[in-house]
Amino acid sequence: MPAEATPTPPAPEAQKPLDTFAKATQALTHIFMRTDVTPVLGIILGSGLGNFADQVQDAVAIPYAEIPHFPQSTVEGHNGKLVVGTIGGVPVAVMAGRVHAYEGYAMDDVVFPTRVLARLGCKKLIVTNAAGGINKSFGQGGLVCIADHINMTGQNAAIGKNEVRWAVKKGSGQRFFDMSAAYSPTLRALAKAEAEQQGTPLPEGVYLAVLGPSYETPAEIRAFSTLGADLVGMSTVHEVIVARHMGMDVLGLSLVTNMAAGVSDDAINHEEVMEIGRRVEGQFTSLLKALIPQVAAATEA
Ligand code: HPA
Repeated sequence: MPAEATPTPPAPEAQKPLDTFAKATQALTHIFMRTDVTPVLGIILGSGLGNFADQVQDAVAIPYAEIPHFPQSTVEGHNGKLVVGTIGGVPVAVMAGRVHAYEGYAMDDVVFPTRVLARLGCKKLIVTNAAGGINKSFGQGGLVCIADHINMTGQNAAIGKNEVRWAVKKGSGQRFFDMSAAYSPTLRALAKAEAEQQGTPLPEGVYLAVLGPSYETPAEIRAFSTLGADLVGMSTVHEVIVARHMGMDVLGLSLVTNMAAGVSDDAINHEEVMEIGRRVEGQFTSLLKALIPQVAAATEA
């Protein structure tokens, strides 16, 4: 038969690239195949704080590797599992481990899990991280409530075609969106009151995000201090940006694992960051556990 008589079959539909929203649909479909819980609160655990996931009751733990399109952390200390269950009767989805832009991930991947948390049903988000202390009144091992942030990563996770379907709240999901109360004043007040009750110091501070992975130079830290930063870290701001795009209410907590470069004479190393996490685990756990039902019940002022 002559060659021209063989028609070329049409390209199969499956080869069309999926957009991020469709990828998130596949991820949450997989998650809901494995749990009956519909979480209302998402919690992202930072470096050294991953053990908090053990607090989840009736837990279903799903390694990121098993969730379609979920990025996997390459950093030691970021376990990489999603734990769905309840804490204090509140349905939660806890991320033990996150990915960072410095690992080479695109912005869309860095915030993909946050997008999925929202799609699972989380209208509130607690983000935690390890941070360097710039404010000299902070001490190593202290907890700080994030009041605001400065994004110095040079990237913004909300770039690209706007997708209004991400909204979890009426009016959210817009191209341009407000960041003036990115860290919910209501949730910050709850955290402050609960910390006081527990006798745990919880000052507030401005978190400045850098791309990393190098720690900062002392000159950079002096510059950041002049800009109004109290804390420095390599995560959180992108998750908070997309959380606010979707209309989630956010509480942010930092653990000061080290004083930032030049604030103390000591060199900074990742082992120390992890070790401090283990040391304050008790305090962090009891504060967060007590806060979860309050955060879940809170209505924005
Ligand atoms: N700088 C940036 N990120 C960090 C630090 C720091 O000093 N400590 C923990 N994460």
